[in-house]
Formats: sequence, structure tokens, C-alpha cells
Amino acid sequence: MKKIVILISGRGSNMQAIVNAELPYNICCVLSNNPDAKGLDFAKIKGINTSVVNHRDYPDRESFDQALGDAIDKYEPDLIVLAGFMRILNPNLVARFSERIINIHPSLLPAFTGLNTHARAIEAGVKLHGCTVHFVTPDLDAGPIVAQAALCIRPNDSPQTLADRILPLEHEILPKSITWILDGRCTISSNQITLDPAIINDSFSFRG
Ligand code: GRF
Repeated sequence: MKKIVILISGRGSNMQAIVNAELPYNICCVLSNNPDAKGLDFAKIKGINTSVVNHRDYPDRESFDQALGDAIDKYEPDLIVLAGFMRILNPNLVARFSERIINIHPSLLPAFTGLNTHARAIEAGVKLHGCTVHFVTPDLDAGPIVAQAALCIRPNDSPQTLADRILPLEHEILPKSITWILDGRCTISSNQITLDPAIINDSFSFRG
């Protein structure tokens, strides 16, 4: 059975969506950089192995990434899923798991990389916003895109209402993307994604 390691930093609702999707893969570990991440409780209740590599225990980013990489490598995962993992991985760590890490990002990339995406989308006055699943490359939020879901920003939307409307879309596209990748329907080579033609229409959606 293909193996997944999921990385979280907080609430872990995307991780819960993956678990609740009951995908035919082994979730070897839910790993967090934050010992107080709420999502760890959910994983434990579900009987999933959890582990913490607390970034505060390491003097610098390199040593933290080394420890994190070792903690991941223990499971030899086929796929590493950043599901609300709020640390930037250094290029060495990305290279160590090259083309095996995906991330869920709350914007329609390449727009609004980084943080506070919903507030920035409102501020910019864009009409469309959403979320993206992409492979992780050394450049922040810039890797090849697997799936996107969009909605329109309404005149009275706030960052919070947008977050509330977009989160369910994240919960749809993340488990779906994992399945496509691990079933070989979405492949990556030299930073280029190839999708099985049968899923192309399912790799983007618009919710009005
Ligand atoms: C999600 O919006 C994700 O896209 C972003 O951080 C949030 C994490 O939420 N990177 P959760 O921890 O999965 O509930």
C-alpha cells in the first residue's frame, strides 16, 4: 500500500479531510512542528501515528529541516502532504523529497503566494479567488499545479467569510489530488505535470 506522511501546524482540518476520505493508502504519520497543534488530537483519536519536530528545539532552519527530513524519511513515504504546514522548507529538504511533496494553498496561484491571501485578494479587488494544490519546489508556492477550485468574491466578503467559503473547497481538492498522484493519474517529471485526460475537467472547478 502506498504511504503518506501529512505535515500540519495547527487545526488540521485538511488533514482530517484526508483521513475522512478513507483513501486506500497508509497514513504512516501526522507530523507537526507545533506540539500544541489541535490536529494531533484528532489523529491520535483516529489511531494514526503522530510525531512532533518542534522548530523551537533547533538553533537554525538547517538543523530543523534535517531533523524534519529524518522524521519523514523513517516512513519512506510515496507522498508528503503539507496540509496547513506553516514552515517554509529549505531547498535541501525539498530536493531530498523531490517531486514527492504537495501543498494546499489558499489562493489561485500564482496569485497571492505567502500569507494573508484572503485579505490581500479583497484588497486587490480581484473577482475570483480560491485554492490550489501544487507540488512543492524550492520557490515559495510556485510549483506545478495539480488542481484548483475557484469562487467569486462577493461585495460583502471579509477575509473570514472567504476563508470559511474556501476551506470546504480545499477539503475537496486535496484528497482528490492525493488519489490522482498515488494512482499515477497525475505524474510529474522535470517540473511538468501530466494529467490523465479523463480527470482534466475535474482538476478545476468554480463554485460561484
Ligand atoms: C488552510 O487554509 C491552508 O490552505 C493554509 O492554512 C490553512 C490550514 O488549515 N495553508 P487546516 O490546519 O488544514 O485546518
